Amino acid sequence: MGGPSVLHGLEGSIAEIGRSLHERALRANPSLFDARGLRGRLAARALSDERLRSALFHFIDTLPQLGSAAEVAGHFRAYLGAYELGGLWGRVLRLGSHPALAGAVRASVKRVAREFLIEPQPSAIRRVLRRLARLPATATFDAVGEAVLTDQEAERYLQRNLELFELLARESSEPPAISVKLSALTARFDPLDRSGSCRRALARLNWFLTRAVELKANVTVDMEQHELKGLILDTFFEVLEQFPHAGWLPGIALQAYAPDALVHVERVIEFARTRRRRIGVRLVKGAYWDTEVALAEQRNWPVPVFLDKAQTDQQYELLTARLFDHPDVIYPAIAGHNLRSLSHAIAAARMRGLRRDAWEVQMLLGMADPLSKAVASEGIQLRVYVPVGDLLAGIAYLIRRLMENTANNSILRQTYAERRPLTDLLAAPHPAPMQTEARATGFRNLPLIDFSDPKSAAAFRHALDAVRSRLGSTLRLNVDGTTERAAGHHVCTNPASRDETLGVVEMAGVAHADRAVANAVGAFESWREVAVERRVEVCRRAADLMLARRERLAALEVLEVGKNWREADADVAEAVDYLRFYAQQMEALDGWRPTAGFPGERNDLTYEPRGVAAIIAPWNFPLAILTGMASAALVAGNPVILKPAEQAMLIAAELHGILLEAGVPPAVCQFLPGEGETVGRHLVEHPDVGLIAFTGSREVGLAILERAGRVVSGQRQVKRVVCEMGGKNAIIVDADADLDEAVLHTLHSAFGFQGQKCSAASRVIALESVHDRFASRLADALDCYPYGPPEDPQYVFGPVISEQARERIERYIELGKSEGKLHYRGRVPQSGHYVAPAIFTGILPRHRLAREEIFGPVLSILCAESFAQALDMALDSEFALTGGVFSRLPEHIDLARRRFRVGNLYINRRITGALVSAQPFGGIAMSGTGVQAGGPDYLKQFLWTRVVSENTLRHGFVPPSPGT
Ligand code: FDA
Repeated sequence: MGGPSVLHGLEGSIAEIGRSLHERALRANPSLFDARGLRGRLAARALSDERLRSALFHFIDTLPQLGSAAEVAGHFRAYLGAYELGGLWGRVLRLGSHPALAGAVRASVKRVAREFLIEPQPSAIRRVLRRLARLPATATFDAVGEAVLTDQEAERYLQRNLELFELLARESSEPPAISVKLSALTARFDPLDRSGSCRRALARLNWFLTRAVELKANVTVDMEQHELKGLILDTFFEVLEQFPHAGWLPGIALQAYAPDALVHVERVIEFARTRRRRIGVRLVKGAYWDTEVALAEQRNWPVPVFLDKAQTDQQYELLTARLFDHPDVIYPAIAGHNLRSLSHAIAAARMRGLRRDAWEVQMLLGMADPLSKAVASEGIQLRVYVPVGDLLAGIAYLIRRLMENTANNSILRQTYAERRPLTDLLAAPHPAPMQTEARATGFRNLPLIDFSDPKSAAAFRHALDAVRSRLGSTLRLNVDGTTERAAGHHVCTNPASRDETLGVVEMAGVAHADRAVANAVGAFESWREVAVERRVEVCRRAADLMLARRERLAALEVLEVGKNWREADADVAEAVDYLRFYAQQMEALDGWRPTAGFPGERNDLTYEPRGVAAIIAPWNFPLAILTGMASAALVAGNPVILKPAEQAMLIAAELHGILLEAGVPPAVCQFLPGEGETVGRHLVEHPDVGLIAFTGSREVGLAILERAGRVVSGQRQVKRVVCEMGGKNAIIVDADADLDEAVLHTLHSAFGFQGQKCSAASRVIALESVHDRFASRLADALDCYPYGPPEDPQYVFGPVISEQARERIERYIELGKSEGKLHYRGRVPQSGHYVAPAIFTGILPRHRLAREEIFGPVLSILCAESFAQALDMALDSEFALTGGVFSRLPEHIDLARRRFRVGNLYINRRITGALVSAQPFGGIAMSGTGVQAGGPDYLKQFLWTRVVSENTLRHGFVPPSPGT
């Protein structure tokens, strides 16, 4: 293998080759950096002005979606109006809203795009083939496309590739070469459903590969984001198994920026050797660096790429050498535009005496034309990667290329724009010593499980089996101090399969509730006196216990309430977050603190717990919400009585066990499974309950607020009610919205967990110009998801919680048919409480479907003439919980920020899945009392403030105030 010593031996030849390539390449600039042209001048300014660079890319990203000339003009001014642009774009800006502006701008962007992306026309393909032949170079084509959200789109992608194949077979004497993205072959390419995704991709690919074998074609599988890597590799190896024919060259792109790249290179070499067949490996550095880093930071996952570019460059050289060591079974394509990396590859190939046709260099169209000429004239085989597509389909590709060209550490920028000295450009990569990551202090959300790791998926499957094997027992009622018999039994069943009994719970009655309150009253004094550090410690211990049982708890949620794996894991993670977050918040509120100074007095304030807390929780976030409300009450010093929802009592019992095990005294945390109408109501009205934390429906919430406000005999305190209720949440889809994103995020916001979230989207208000396209794409996308038991990870969507819920939702669907038009209805299995998802169009703001909370997989799409009207429609609701906007016009985003008054407004992202601390959650109006869970003010609702003022003046002697 090519270790550092081999590399050092090569340095002389690398320098020589590099000098020769550089000399030839410098004779011309790649056109993007050609300062003489308009694009060159704009690019040059964008390089030195980060904000202009970002504004420019944002504008270009929006352009293909814009319809009218006025829209183009509006966006152009919105993004670039603040800049003094010279040249054509400066003149264009001065045109104001003249119709000529749109044409000129579109033409200009199209010219930039055509540097990197050719039109999907036979004539354009012929032209590029002729141009490349003159270099000489061959091509590999890529039918770029928008994100594939529907099976129809996947089919069209495949069709475009097949057409390309045929065209190339006709137009070129070379065997056709095509690059494909596996994620574009199915709407659901999901690493959690490895076998299903692989099967779907292969089914679609089958045809295409049969033709590839006939044409002796060269088919390379592009590598995509880290999360998909394992799945892409598995599918690629499956392709190799199913198409073992000699004569065609299958290939895979591998990314050097991934620290584990060598493992994958070795796996391919091993496979090729054992199966005695030749495999192409395209070595790239990796195109998703910024996204990988940002996503890992967002998710709190380990960053899956090197952070030091020199590490990527060094590994690239090591992998080049490794691939060159196996020319009999590997056909290496060294893909990139870096003078040093390419010079190294040429030197390494020459040192090994590799034949000219044993490997090739590959470059992207338009990225480094002068260097490609130089490489070709060195006698190296060159292949150019040619993306084919219109601007709308190719916009994501185009933006990636522009970013790559202009990034600070891009070799193209350093070579052509900054004119770095040759010695710098050819220096061997020397990674800086590894930095040990400074541990971030303060609150951090628990990372979700990365199910793209097969080990995580296997652990979850194991947890499901383990949980199921222990189900079926009876949970005895245990309220200290009473031997009163249970008031009844509740049979817990799996909503996905009516016949499966998960357990039986003995139910409490009113007498048990009285006893539990008395126990809690007795425990209040001592729990209040427990030092805050100790209460905090108990919560942290509970978080650790929960974390240790994470898969088992989530697996139980899958079975008890029908959440899918990811949603169940997110619920457990949120519960852990609440325990840790409120513990941290309580630490900050501990002790006495001086109020504003007052001469001659000492004024101190402290926070006190309020008393016995009834925690009345819903079933839809069975662990997170119950834990959030209970942990806030407990850490603040209040004894709690957990009254879980009937549909989620097994998971609630687990929480109770964890809290006791963590050290909460039994009388401070009691478990009281009972019916809402009897036990819940009794707790609310009980004179000794001082605090009620409730999350649930508006009807129950308002009834609790009313009853808690009525003073009953023996009551000695005003009750505090912490109340979170429902929503009728709207997403606005603006005329310029990125529909790929709007469709995908709406799909999950509206139908995730079957719409049974108070934050779920139940109304979409789409601007006229996108209404039809949005509605049909959303329906097609939803149609790709089969419904089934969520314990099987191929099912993203499952049953609703109960038969009663199913019937209620079905009644709304019937109502919808009379109020609007049923645009889409899905299909669901017969067993279990399934509701086929429904999308309605033609709904008006006055319709019940647009006003009432349904809490199921039913979405109404309304149509608006303008953004302002859409905003009015969104706000026309009794609720104000969450809302969403998909727009790329800064003034519309600003307007929404100012006027769209809901508890949680989400812009250009899904409207569910709030994170503790980052997105405190809760609404106002009929959605709640306006203090958000997981936010800075939540805990204070479980406390009251007490102030002590002491006169410190003694006969004219004024002692210094504290702190002076
Ligand atoms: P250069 O030497 O400037 O390297 C830039 C690269 O370095 C970045 O793209 C990133 O990978 C890495 N980098 C940047 N900052 C870093 C940092 N701080 N720490 C660590 N690494 C850092 N890509 C892909 O992911 N999948 C694919 O299938 C393909 N296919 C493909 C085909 C062909 C023919 C080509 C030429 C390219 C690709 N690519 C790709 C894109 C390829 O990954 C991208 O063009 C290269 O990363 C650019 O590398 P250069 O050597 O040209 O430039």
